[in-house]
Amino acid sequence: MIPPKPRPRADKVSLLQYLRLFRADLLSAQPARLYRGWMAEFRTPFFRSYMCNDPALVTRVLIERPDDFPKSNRIREGLNPLLGNSVFVTNGAVWKRQRRIIDPAFEGGRLRDTFPAMVAAGQAAVARMPLGEVEVEQEMSHAAADVIFRTLFSIPIEHEVAAAVFAEFRSYQRTQPLLNLAAFLPLPKWVPRFHRRDTKRSAAVIRGLITRLTEGRAAEIAAGTAPDDLATKIMTTADPLTGERFETAEMVDQVAIFFLAGHETSASALSWALLMLAMDAETQEKVAAEAQGLGDQPEFSALSKLRFTRDVFREVLRLYPPVPMMVRENACPEEMRGRKVAPGAQIVLSPWHLHRHERIWDRPDEFDPSRWQTEENRVCARDAYMPFSAGPRVCTGAGFAMVEGTLLLALLARAFRFEVAGALPVPVAHLTVRAKDGIWLRITRR
Ligand code: HEM
Repeated sequence: MIPPKPRPRADKVSLLQYLRLFRADLLSAQPARLYRGWMAEFRTPFFRSYMCNDPALVTRVLIERPDDFPKSNRIREGLNPLLGNSVFVTNGAVWKRQRRIIDPAFEGGRLRDTFPAMVAAGQAAVARMPLGEVEVEQEMSHAAADVIFRTLFSIPIEHEVAAAVFAEFRSYQRTQPLLNLAAFLPLPKWVPRFHRRDTKRSAAVIRGLITRLTEGRAAEIAAGTAPDDLATKIMTTADPLTGERFETAEMVDQVAIFFLAGHETSASALSWALLMLAMDAETQEKVAAEAQGLGDQPEFSALSKLRFTRDVFREVLRLYPPVPMMVRENACPEEMRGRKVAPGAQIVLSPWHLHRHERIWDRPDEFDPSRWQTEENRVCARDAYMPFSAGPRVCTGAGFAMVEGTLLLALLARAFRFEVAGALPVPVAHLTVRAKDGIWLRITRR
């Protein structure tokens, strides 16, 4: 089954056309040759940018020498009103310290503790799901936001503050439809981008709400009455090197990124996953059958039985990686595939292109979850699969997201039957991969 793929642009376009296309959608702004090439150079009067599809280059940037390829300050400035100094935008010593405090909360053992909250969110999503023709991206955003609030703060999305953050976040996105990778590039001032007034206002409201939650939690920790969830874990973990903990303000920055990075991405993956089930009846029946093994009150150990569902979710992350591209800036002069790359160039890594690379993957555009059980796929997966990035800056929530995605997909497929309603959606990407006009499915109860 070949699922929707955006039509690439013509090979040659003017710079202005390119910038316009790029801002409208990262995916269709690229020419088809990027699915075959190992490296591509984009020259503009303002900056040079290099897309690296060669696995050896990706390894150099993300795994071997990540300190020489930091995130640019523009990214931090751009996201500052919402994210402050969160782990997503910092570099160097500050970033390393933040990861030392955050990472333990997401380790394997903790995932088991987090699992009941995920189950509760999954059951709530099943109970809430409307029947008939439904736009599922919206439903999945709701479900993924619920997962974050329940696991982080032990509150459901119906909680007054959680609901307000979720609603305000939607309006943040509405005021900032151009929040996309283009905004991270060193473009001249006349290209409009961040910090419109209402965007800043929305960011301030979100941060105000999150501050309330975080301060409330700090008081509960002090009183010894805090629930044992991710927020408590992070706020009580001391940096093993310095003994310091997060101050409330720094914790607010982290909560903001957990919310942003953790719900937009999972929602995107789950929505495309439901579309794949709707387009592939055999896969849908297999997932629904496998999910029977979960029982009424799923235990963490039951997850290991969902092997096929996990492969379905992996395959969705291959074809629709929620974070389609990442940018770094090289600090030193580099040589890449025989080209000299001066410091300050934009190094673009593209899971989107790598995952569909025609010289690496067999039938790259085909949805085939069974490929994850083959020997050949092991090599492709090692060299050209990075939905969560790789190296020390890998997504902190990768393990969490795999559990969440597999579990929610299974619970939904067990309860409902999904069919495509109307025209197939077209993927577009700003910061995450979404459908141009939503993903519409016909949903009936099983
Ligand atoms: C399917 C779901 C998810 C996908 C595909 C995903 C993907 C990614 C990717 C590609 C990055 C690297 C971005 C870059 O370096 O430019 C990243 C970073 C991050 N993600 Fe995720 N993510 C997902 C879910 C989550 C969840 C559930 C959480 C937290 C609860 C989370 C928290 C983070 C954080 C904190 C970072 C920044 C890490 C750092 O820079 O050190 N993500 N994610």
